[in-house]
Amino acid sequence: MTSITAGESKREVAQPRQQSQAVNVPQVDVAAPNRREFLYYIWGASMVLLLGQATAGLIWFALPRFKEGTFGGVFNFPPERVPLLGSNPVSEPSGRFWVSNTDAGLVSLYGVCTHLGCLPRWEEGRSRFECPCHGSKFELNGDYIEGPAPRNLDRFRMTVTFEDGTTAEMNDSGDPIPLEGRRVTNIAIDTGSLIRGQANA
Ligand code: FES
Repeated sequence: MTSITAGESKREVAQPRQQSQAVNVPQVDVAAPNRREFLYYIWGASMVLLLGQATAGLIWFALPRFKEGTFGGVFNFPPERVPLLGSNPVSEPSGRFWVSNTDAGLVSLYGVCTHLGCLPRWEEGRSRFECPCHGSKFELNGDYIEGPAPRNLDRFRMTVTFEDGTTAEMNDSGDPIPLEGRRVTNIAIDTGSLIRGQANA
């Protein structure tokens, strides 16, 4: 027969109480954020959203958005407005340019003086552009003649489409586009693409 000591009897009595305590401990989900962490998450998300909006706004304002037919964009210059060879240039005030038909071909000139930004006028009697501010003068093709202007008139890049479907684009030097008697169906003048006039020799 097994005898029970006083110490063994105490352990047996204590065991049921330990089991009972384990059952009653509330379950805590350690992965769930507490109130402070939750506020941090909200704050962090708000900051990310704010920075995203600020960046998008910056890009939106930084990128040029010019519509066709407004200064800074492309103008489709009507072929019927092209001046006769060697005659007075044609002005397009909304695009701030002149179109000249020279012996070397067609050219689009930025109508702003290369000295201090006044607007040269075409003087029909003298067959040249003259600036009203300080007297700079330019030829039909925009080449400098005299006065304080440091260079020829600037040019806008242009693309000419001919009746046979071929096109000719102005090169990086801004050389006139020869027409050579071909019929023109479209002239696209990009007022957002300036070709700087050659400096005076
Ligand atoms: S602004 Fe044209 S000559 Fe000075």
